[in-house]
Amino acid sequence: MKTTYFSALELEGAAELIKNGELAAFPTETVYGLGADALNENAVQKIFEAKGRPADNPLIVHVADDSHLALIASNIPVVAQELMARFWPGALTLVLPKRPEVSSLVTAGLNTVAVRLPSHPIAIELIRLAGTPIAAPSANRSGRPSATTWQAVADDLDGRIAGIVKGEPTSFGLESTVLDATCDPPRVLRPGGVTLEQLKEVCDAIQPYSGGLSNQSLQGVNSPGLKYKHYQPQAKVVVFTAGVLESELQRALDRLDQVHYIGLSSPSNPMRFGSTQVCSDVGEYAAKLFDTFRKADIAGAEWVYCEAVSEIGIGVALMDRLRRASQ
Ligand code: TXA
Ligand code: MG
Repeated sequence: MKTTYFSALELEGAAELIKNGELAAFPTETVYGLGADALNENAVQKIFEAKGRPADNPLIVHVADDSHLALIASNIPVVAQELMARFWPGALTLVLPKRPEVSSLVTAGLNTVAVRLPSHPIAIELIRLAGTPIAAPSANRSGRPSATTWQAVADDLDGRIAGIVKGEPTSFGLESTVLDATCDPPRVLRPGGVTLEQLKEVCDAIQPYSGGLSNQSLQGVNSPGLKYKHYQPQAKVVVFTAGVLESELQRALDRLDQVHYIGLSSPSNPMRFGSTQVCSDVGEYAAKLFDTFRKADIAGAEWVYCEAVSEIGIGVALMDRLRRASQ
């Protein structure tokens, strides 16, 4: 299949593909999404094929307004309404009771549906032009780091999908927070762009993310996607605590040119690394992480050394991705 590339000024073309049951990738404020008409089962099936995604991992449905929301979710809990009022448009995905019209392909057979109203102008405009809610997982081959640039989408999916919208690199760089609003108290299933501290300002009872990996026995009541390998570059990812980099490296190897580095502190010998990415804060670190992984692979690096950060604010989401990537 030949993939057509669209500029931000050519969204009608991408919307036309979605209307016709084809796939189009587009930027959001978190990561790029791989979109299909959420109400067209054949189109949704193509997402799983293009990504190589297991069928038991449900998709997030992206909406542009309340009329779309009403098509897919019902009996929306009051707390979910309050969270929408505060955090939509934005990086919060809410798991809600689904309407029977939503295909079980989208929800992997669950009786809930995950919904997000993104803030990215291209995403909103594309959903509006398509005139339908858009089911969209991250636009990467399954298991790989999420795509934060259109070039990363192209590397993974060119020739496998009908269209790619060439937006800017995404601003947040990690995925949205997924919150189950169907249980009482609500629970964070995946940490992301909206922090627990922010969520608690709306509902103090919200339960924190419990680590996902240790939760496999709770599968089914949990976020099914969490049991899969995720975010992994070909290079081995090593997470180290601030200050112990040099001794870690001495133990590990002497070929520092094979090592790419990302963290908040500067290594004492930056020149010896294949690439060094020193970030000024956790936000910049989050924004650059997946791109650093992908660049390491393109350069043929063997290791990516990542400095651990404190697990507060978006540090929770960042450490979650680092742990999964280093599994
Ligand atoms: O930022 C994001 O969320 C991006 C952009 C494109 O919106 N999307 C994204 O989608 O990260 P994906 O498919 O890579 O991750 C969706 C996560 C998975 O862990 C999946 O298991 C979970 O959401 N999920 C989807 N529907 C669910 C449901 N009904 N109940 C529980 N978890 C659900
Ligand atoms: Mg994903």
